Formats: sequence, C-alpha cells, structure tokens
Amino acid sequence: MNDHIYSLIQLAADGQKLQAEDWETVLNISDPEAQQFLYGKASDLRVQLCGANVALRGLVEVSNYCTKNCLYCGIRKDNCNVPRFELELNEIVDTAMLAQEYRYGSVVLQSGERTDVRFIDKIAEAVSRIKKYSNGKIGVTLSCGEQEKSVYQDWFSAGAHRYLLRIETSDRKLYSSLHPAGHSFDNRVQCLHYLKECGYQLGTGIMCGLPRQTAADIVKDIDFFENIDADMIGMGPYLVQHDTPLAALCPDFEQEKAARLSFALNMIAVVRLRLRDVNIAATTALHALAPDGREQGLKAGANVVMPNLTPLRFRSGYLLYDDKPGVNENAAASRNALRESIEKAGFSVIDDDWGDSVHFFTKAKLPHA
Ligand code: 5AD
Ligand code: SF4
Repeated sequence: MNDHIYSLIQLAADGQKLQAEDWETVLNISDPEAQQFLYGKASDLRVQLCGANVALRGLVEVSNYCTKNCLYCGIRKDNCNVPRFELELNEIVDTAMLAQEYRYGSVVLQSGERTDVRFIDKIAEAVSRIKKYSNGKIGVTLSCGEQEKSVYQDWFSAGAHRYLLRIETSDRKLYSSLHPAGHSFDNRVQCLHYLKECGYQLGTGIMCGLPRQTAADIVKDIDFFENIDADMIGMGPYLVQHDTPLAALCPDFEQEKAARLSFALNMIAVVRLRLRDVNIAATTALHALAPDGREQGLKAGANVVMPNLTPLRFRSGYLLYDDKPGVNENAAASRNALRESIEKAGFSVIDDDWGDSVHFFTKAKLPHA
C-alpha cells in the first residue's frame, strides 16, 4: 500500500496526470513518513519553479462591514457581536507605507464585501495614493469581494494588479449550503472571469474541512483552479467561529485540530504538484492551528506569507474565526520573528519585491518582471 502511495507522489511530482481517486488517496495520507515525502516533493518543485524565496505581503484589513452572510464567517452581516470599523483613507495609505518601511514590497487591501460608492471610491483613491507615494514601488493586491466589472476596471486603472477572490468551494450544492439567499455561485465565477479580463493576476482558493465536504470535492476544487487558470491560490482550513451558524455542525473541532492542519498541508502539497508554478499562500488560518503553521505550509509547497499590518486597535474586529493569531502582536517585533522563523524553515525572505506569480508570466509568454 505504502509503495503505491510513494509511486503516486513521484508520478505527480514528475508532472503525470493522476486519476481523481489517486489524488484523493494522496490528499488523505496520514502516515507521517509518506507526508514528509509528499511535502518534500512539493517543496522541491516550488524551489525549482518559483525559487526558494518567500515574498511577504503586508495585509491591511480596511473594513469589517460586510453585506454578505456566509454561514462560517465571524464578520458576516448578521453577527451583531462584532464592533464594526472602517479605516480612514489616510490610515489605509499610512499603513500601506509601513509595508515599504518593512521592505514587504506589496500590500493586500482586504475588506468585507461592500458595494457602496463611497467605499468603492475610497479603495480607488487609496490604491492611487499608495502607488503615487511609493513611486510605483509597492505592489497592490485587492481582496474586496464580488463587484461590478467596471469597479474591477477602475481599481485596476488606479494601480491594483492582483486580486484575491476565493471560490470557497466549487461544488454548487455545498456552496449553497454555506451561503444563504442573496449569494450566487454563478456571480462569483463570473467575477473571477471579469478579473481575468481586466488583466489582474487572479487569486482564488477554498477552505478545507467544511462540514459535508469530502476529499473528492477538493479534487474537483483543484480542477476548478486549473480550469480558471488561477495564478495564485489562498487556501486554509475552515475554523470555527462561535457566533456563526456553522459552528454548531463542528462540536468536536478542538479535538480535530491536528488532523485538520495535517489535511490542509496535504492540500497545499497537492495543489503545488498539480498547478506547479502558481503562488500559494501559507495562510493565517494555518497559524491559528499551530504556532509554526505557516512555516509548515512553506515546507509543504507554499511560497507567500501575508503578515498583518492592520492597526492593532482594529484587529479584534476582524476575527473571521476564533483564536485568530496576532490580535495583540507588535508589528515590528513580529516582522523580525517571522523573518527569522522563515529563515529557520530553510527559505529566504525577498525584500522590496512584488513576488508576482510566475504562472501569470509563463502563461502569457511574458518575461518575468
Ligand atoms: N475559517 C477559515 N477561513 C475563513 N474565512 C472566512 N471565515 C472563515 C473561517 N471561519 C476565509 C474565507 C474568505 C477569507 C477572507 O477568509 O475563505 O474568503
Ligand atoms: Fe463577508 Fe467575506 Fe466573511 Fe463572507 S467570508 S461574510 S463575504 S467577509
């Protein structure tokens, strides 16, 4: 049995296509030795195709107001226990400029989903100012949900060049069980196409370990990433937030943390083996399951980390899930600690670099910036 698993991993590392059930087998590996083999292969491939560097992106959580009601998320509209906040324009720009001081090279402006004109204009203005004040040096990624195509175009014209919009799950039925009325799977897919048409490097992703989700679903999610030709993948384990409807479906969450982390790492490795030269984030959700969760993610094939730059007084307002790390951290101290721990994991942090997706340039046959 084990020989079979090792040969599947080797075939995948060599770029062979596996059957869906074989991918499922690899996703479900729990033997520690086989896992180390899998992560080693994924990590080698990442180094070969994307280099051994880790690009850092400063995350700025701009606003936790959200018009959506995802059943898993702590800042969903109906959660009245969350103090809502919105950064002032100057505050967004100043926080982004801190990224330059820290030599992060790029920032991600993230928010709950809002389609009010005042907010849309504010994001456009913030992007323009960040580009202007940094002389074009800071790369700007946006993660502000589903929008009209014209909004995506305006934000792109203002200088944003990457966008993250997770599909969350590519299974229509599962999607509708996680999102109440008012959410549309088709619109989300449409938005991913709009983003590509506008010229963004496209980021998408899912959560794993959702109630009723199977490994077969995840194999299909990876097919979805491939078919939409994503440049960046942000994935993480689903984590319970006690004020959300989905929490009731995961009564044993605490006891399952180690298994959930292990599955999420397998998923990163499998996505690396399948999608090869894309950027993959080692997400904060991994960090929530283990203090070195992000470093474990890097060792399993991820190549991007997004340290949080949100002003401390707002952090407790952006708790998508319970026990989110970093609520009280000191940004300067955590930056040094992160750099050290990334280096200890065997990678080097690349300063002042946008850390663009190699895949984006390869598929367009453009020279990498
Ligand atoms: N656990 C893990 N990830 C979550 N997200 C939202 N709620 C949770 C949760 N409870 C993720 C979603 C979203 C991203 C911003 O955060 O995938 O796209
Ligand atoms: Fe809003 Fe995003 Fe949370 Fe859904 S996951 S409720 S869209 S912030």
